[in-house]
Amino acid sequence: MAIEKRTWAEPFKIKVVEPVRMSSQAERQQAIRDAGYNTFLLRSEDVYIDLLTDSGTSAMSDRQWAALMMGDEAYAGSRSFYRLESAVQTFYGYKYVVPTHQGRGAENLLSKSLIKPGDIVPGNMYFTTTRLHQELAGGTFVDVIIPEAHDPVNTHPFKGDVDLVRLEQVIKTYGRERIPYISIAATVNMAGGQPISLANIKAVGELAHQYGIRVILDAARVVENAYFIQEREPGYQDCTIAAIVKELCSYTDGCTMSAKKDPLVNIGGFLAVNDRAVYEDAANLAVIYEGLHTYGGMAGRDMEALATGIEESLHEDHIRARVGQVLYLGQKLIDAGVPIVKPVGGHGVFLDARAFLPHVPQEQYPAQALAAALYLDSGVRSMERGIVSAGRNKESGEENKPRLELVRLAIPRRVYTQAHMDVVAESVESVFSERESICGLRMTYEPKYLRFFQARFEPLAG
Ligand code: F0G
Repeated sequence: MAIEKRTWAEPFKIKVVEPVRMSSQAERQQAIRDAGYNTFLLRSEDVYIDLLTDSGTSAMSDRQWAALMMGDEAYAGSRSFYRLESAVQTFYGYKYVVPTHQGRGAENLLSKSLIKPGDIVPGNMYFTTTRLHQELAGGTFVDVIIPEAHDPVNTHPFKGDVDLVRLEQVIKTYGRERIPYISIAATVNMAGGQPISLANIKAVGELAHQYGIRVILDAARVVENAYFIQEREPGYQDCTIAAIVKELCSYTDGCTMSAKKDPLVNIGGFLAVNDRAVYEDAANLAVIYEGLHTYGGMAGRDMEALATGIEESLHEDHIRARVGQVLYLGQKLIDAGVPIVKPVGGHGVFLDARAFLPHVPQEQYPAQALAAALYLDSGVRSMERGIVSAGRNKESGEENKPRLELVRLAIPRRVYTQAHMDVVAESVESVFSERESICGLRMTYEPKYLRFFQARFEPLAG
């Protein structure tokens, strides 16, 4: 009988290791209480396997560490900036680049440059920091993602697609003058890491440009998106990941980038655009909020590591193993009957807290409670992506109640092994088998902006 061979393995071997420690149940009890049942407020020392985020948590390669030594720390006109600019032009195809300290720095520059009070920004599901910058600039985000995206069990292959009919309705209702750009994310984070198809983003571009409206891509996870296109979209099986990324970007007029995700660095980002006037505006704002336009918020060495990371992120074997590891964990949980968002996303596995804890109403923050319970079980850190993350309506002050009430197990790139994934799956399964014992939470402290980062809670019982 022929032996079935695996389709991926890590395309690297490990040169440096960082010890991690499993804590005791009593230590974790104390730690989560001290953290107000918010995993963002835990100390990383108290965490065993850290799946809080895939942002800034990647392992850099030996080539990236070597690149750090080549950083040119000149205040102005750094050689490292020109290397980064050239990588962005080569691999994403945009003309002008402003480095920023991270993704939200780029969102701030973009929103301040393009949005005026009363404007509308349609997009394929909100992201926390992106929407807040749009709102702070006086805009209102309008969700135009396909309805399938809000359904955790719908297995549509491109749940990041835009509902084109709805988008055109929004344009007609508000008028093109009130729509500065359309905000399109690749592998939509809040939908569970779900991709947009090339056919759809192309159609979005055509529709928007017909009305004279720009399309701005959130490119943080564009490579993972390209992988799903290569896997799922007819006609793209023989295209390289690099070619798909470039084509995807070509339907848009610019991007904001959190380089802490797909581009494999621990800090950094940029705004890239094709329009000279938008660039000039953003470059000018950069000197107020970030730094000179040739370094933005980044050290020269960080720009070097990023230029190298952009190139590495497009390697076929890298992205296959990266998403392969996420799918491995997802499949284990599906096999165990644990309710998760399907299809499995690109950067993490998302537990469906509504189905996991049907006895905890959304007002009692089930996903927040589940993330705390998982930490208590094994020291695995995850993050709430539900009602707490969704915040409040900017006009009424009411809590937004998203249909998706999720716990995200985000997998850092090139960091954990398959054995770690097994530990995570075992812990989720064990919490699932004792789910009736998990109770809801009450919020005891709510910060004004992006409350999920710093809010505190206490259990309603026990
Ligand atoms: N856009 C998306 C889709 C993101 O996921 C993030 C960050 C940002 C923009 C903002 O970038 O953090 O560099 O300022 N997401 C992190 C996460 C926080 O854990 O998903 P940033």
